[in-house]
Amino acid sequence: MNVVHMPVLLKEVLEFIDGERTKVIIDCTFGGGGHSKAILKEFPAVRVIGIDQDEEAIDRGRCLEEAFKGRIKLYKKNFRYFDQVLSEEGLSYVDVFLLDLGVSSYLLFDEKRGFSFMKKGPLDMRMNKDLELTAGKVINSFSMEELTNIFFQYGEERHSRKIAKAIVDYRKKKKIETTDELANIVSACIGYRSKIHPATRIFQSLRIYVNDEIGALKEFLDKSLGYLTLGGRLIIISFHSLEDRVVKSFFKDKEKEGILKILTKKPIVPRKDELKLNPRSRSAKMRVSEKVQ
Ligand SMILES: C[S@@+](CC[C@H](N)C(=O)[O-])C[C@H]1O[C@@H](n2cnc3c(N)ncnc32)[C@H](O)[C@@H]1O
Repeated sequence: MNVVHMPVLLKEVLEFIDGERTKVIIDCTFGGGGHSKAILKEFPAVRVIGIDQDEEAIDRGRCLEEAFKGRIKLYKKNFRYFDQVLSEEGLSYVDVFLLDLGVSSYLLFDEKRGFSFMKKGPLDMRMNKDLELTAGKVINSFSMEELTNIFFQYGEERHSRKIAKAIVDYRKKKKIETTDELANIVSACIGYRSKIHPATRIFQSLRIYVNDEIGALKEFLDKSLGYLTLGGRLIIISFHSLEDRVVKSFFKDKEKEGILKILTKKPIVPRKDELKLNPRSRSAKMRVSEKVQ
């Protein structure tokens, strides 16, 4: 399948980059390289460091290193360890951190990676294939209590306990191996209550848990300000309320402390024309802040 990942809120991201003062940008979620490529084209004096924990994303991006020789360097790494990349690069500061969180279309539409309940695949969901824990291990070995907590905490699923019980009952008879098997167990348990597939929240919660997405985001935020130049910016696009809440409250706390100035009083969301072209952008929210102290 020919997958294309369309970078979300691209025009808006570029508008928040000050071409005059920006020298180094870390694209912490390189993905399909859409944002990085546009930045390299728009700002000829800017250097980009691209990070992604998915090695396929990095392999795919190598052609950008060729096309923009000396201006972009890619690293396979979790962005929670961006400081290690900076130290390898001999850099102490950057001017912009860009985070476009979640999964790319490449990951979502590749059935072998197991992120989508729309496609039959193994229950994997690891963005970094070197991780030990897969969604399958969680589903087949965690207790009912643990599953309930994951579904509730990371999926905000009202029927967490009922679904966890259905999973535990099912696996007494047979190991749950594929994405469609899990999706069917969930649909049979709670049925269709809205236009959204009943397994949506369960898949979201497993993905967040397996990849420790909230933990990585918090660790990144805690370190980020120590590496941002004065006047440097944090540009963060999130796709669900859990991560948006983390970003919003971090920005607010640091504004109160006089360290950051929030540049987006309300989060920026895609315009109608973008939504029409790229319906997957519908839940995107972008928040930007600037280091002032
Ligand atoms: C929404 S996509 C980014 C798309 C990209 N901005 C573009 O325009 O093509 C998110 C990417 O971030 C990566 N990612 C998510 N969490 C990460 C983390 N903690 N560390 C490194 N990469 C991460 C995923 O593997 C995925 O490729």
